[in-house]
Amino acid sequence: MKILILGYKGMLGSELVEVFRDGNDLILWDKDQIDITKREDVMQKIGQLKPDIVINAAAYTAVDKAESEKDLVYKVNGCAVGFLSTICKEIDALFVHFSTDYVFDGENHLGYKEDHLYKPINMYGKSKALGEKMILDIKPRFYLIRTSWLFGKYGKNFVETMIRLAEERKDLKVVNDQFGSPTYAKDLSEKVKDLIESEKPYGIYHITNSESCNWYEFALKIFKLSRLKPNIKPVSSEEFPTPAKRPTYSMLVNSKLPQMRSWEDALKDYLIETGRIDKTYH
Ligand SMILES: NC(=O)c1ccc[n+]([C@@H]2O[C@H](COP(=O)([O-])OP(=O)(O)OC[C@H]3O[C@@H](n4cnc5c(N)ncnc54)[C@H](OP(=O)(O)O)[C@@H]3O)[C@@H](O)[C@H]2O)c1
Repeated sequence: MKILILGYKGMLGSELVEVFRDGNDLILWDKDQIDITKREDVMQKIGQLKPDIVINAAAYTAVDKAESEKDLVYKVNGCAVGFLSTICKEIDALFVHFSTDYVFDGENHLGYKEDHLYKPINMYGKSKALGEKMILDIKPRFYLIRTSWLFGKYGKNFVETMIRLAEERKDLKVVNDQFGSPTYAKDLSEKVKDLIESEKPYGIYHITNSESCNWYEFALKIFKLSRLKPNIKPVSSEEFPTPAKRPTYSMLVNSKLPQMRSWEDALKDYLIETGRIDKTYH
């Protein structure tokens, strides 16, 4: 298979490269090779390349900064997804795209199924919802995969931030009123490969590690496994204001695929793989 991975330098893109490398003709592009917001470039370069599959891991992911960069975030996460959908349809390539739990308002404590109507509450969520709409309107052959709270070896993420802060400070505050499912980018990438290889029906899928927690509980588990002992205090989102409002409950209900391992098992594996804890840890 000739597979084009866009955003291959990002956290998820890098894991996708590792998972798809064997047995495929991989073409890896990031900002240096293509700016996906440039319609002509997208149409011409991908049209010429004619890949069998386009996997789009390129995105604008700075949730707070997005509040003040509306134009750019809409271009990257919204309009560009329209360009990619159009060219994939034209050359009959399978389009694999990623979206987020932040397309939902977070008021449903039971979580959100694949067909739930989106209702984003911040700029990043709105731009990702626009990207989703583009795909559904243009209708290439597609897998639209929503995921949440990613951590992985190749990017800035909550696990690394917590470990760094615990090494720098004695006292930490972490919010305990936002709930979701942490997801290991490597597990997600392997599942994406399964999804493609098993030729599941095209459409929307929710792929996260199973079970959920709040950020405070996530941090506690990181510290327990890493044997770090900061003084950690749970606080409400009101006590910890950020430019972008976050959904309270953003668990993605997966009603189409077998469940993945728990986020706690995935986290332990991540800490082993990054050399933070020993393989024999129990
Ligand atoms: N991270 C999460 O917690 C999370 C949660 C749910 C869903 N997702 C979704 O998962 C996907 C991957 O996220 P990620 O965290 O791996 O993202 P990431 O680490 O921020 O990587 C995104 C990549 O896309 C590149 N890019 C940005 N604008 C571009 C453009 N105009 N043209 C070409 N490339 C461009 C970035 O380059 P620069 O770094 O140079 O800008 C970066 O290499 C995204 O669709 C995201 O919305 C992420």
